[in-house]
Amino acid sequence: MESPFNADLLKGKVALLTGGGSGIGFEISTQFGKHGASIAIMGRRKQVLDTAVSALHSLGIPAVGFEGDVRKQEDAKRVVDSTFKHFGRLDILVNAAAGNFLVSAEDLSPNGFRTVMDIDSVGTFTMCHEALKYLKKGGPGRSSSGGGTILNISATLHYTASWYQIHVSAAKAAVDATTRNLALEWGTDYDIRVNGIAPGPIGDTPGMSKLAPEEINSKARDYMPLYKLGEKWDIAMAALYLASDAGKYVNGTTIPVDGGLWLTKPRHLPKEAVRQLSRAVESRSREKPVALPTSKL
Ligand code: COA
Repeated sequence: MESPFNADLLKGKVALLTGGGSGIGFEISTQFGKHGASIAIMGRRKQVLDTAVSALHSLGIPAVGFEGDVRKQEDAKRVVDSTFKHFGRLDILVNAAAGNFLVSAEDLSPNGFRTVMDIDSVGTFTMCHEALKYLKKGGPGRSSSGGGTILNISATLHYTASWYQIHVSAAKAAVDATTRNLALEWGTDYDIRVNGIAPGPIGDTPGMSKLAPEEINSKARDYMPLYKLGEKWDIAMAALYLASDAGKYVNGTTIPVDGGLWLTKPRHLPKEAVRQLSRAVESRSREKPVALPTSKL
């Protein structure tokens, strides 16, 4: 689909994306690049990075890949510094790296819980921590008035509760808290906007194939009235809005981009039945006003 934004929306900007070589992260890399940004991708797998960078180059997008694991602070520092060395500035940090698997709470080991917290929550904070010096107003390559921006990819799992996702729900709740707290502190002190996106189920992503194989997916459509898959493009458009000047007054919020799915509840009565029932109850109460016993007056 064509983007509704101008092609120079992010002209001259440099974006670093963790997990930017595959899935939602790669679509954001591509759309940011198509809108004028230079792209640095951080990931653990060299082959994924190489493929992603070649794909971006073939679109004429300046791009570079850096191997690294967000769980290692030395990797985070090296990649952030290398991005600055390569492009001469850093404007946008997107934390899209995540770990996930389906497991019941009773089958999950504390180390399994910790692993996802380490990738999603601590990893997000570590990247923000290392990127701060380049993102803050007056930092290297920046003017004294304009700070950069951070975008954290979250989820809607923890808005209520989610089966077999206790570790990710806890991790993304921490990510959302980090988004708000950094927005408060770094927005005030350094002019850095910090926001998040909470994608619903997005087709053709590693997350979907891990968490909702097709057999689960087709059943879900039956019992969730709003159930439909989103596209990676939907998330990338929200990312463009938040990371560009279009979102310049938005700070500290996480936008659910899920078609309203997290609000889904089973419909307990058909609409027609509600109309009839509601009118019947109304007219019954008009016909027979409830008389209070005189002893209570
Ligand atoms: N069910 C239950 N526990 C699991 C599990 C599963 N499917 N997969 C991993 N774990 C547990 C392990 O048993 C281990 O705990 P233990 O030491 O108590 O046994 C712990 O998690 C760490 O596993 P390990 O395989 O050593 O971690 P890793 O660092 O190699 O991989 C993962 C991290 C597990 C998150 C891996 O799935 C990953 O790298 N994911 C990245 C990509 C991804 O998930 N993308 C989807 C985004 S939505």
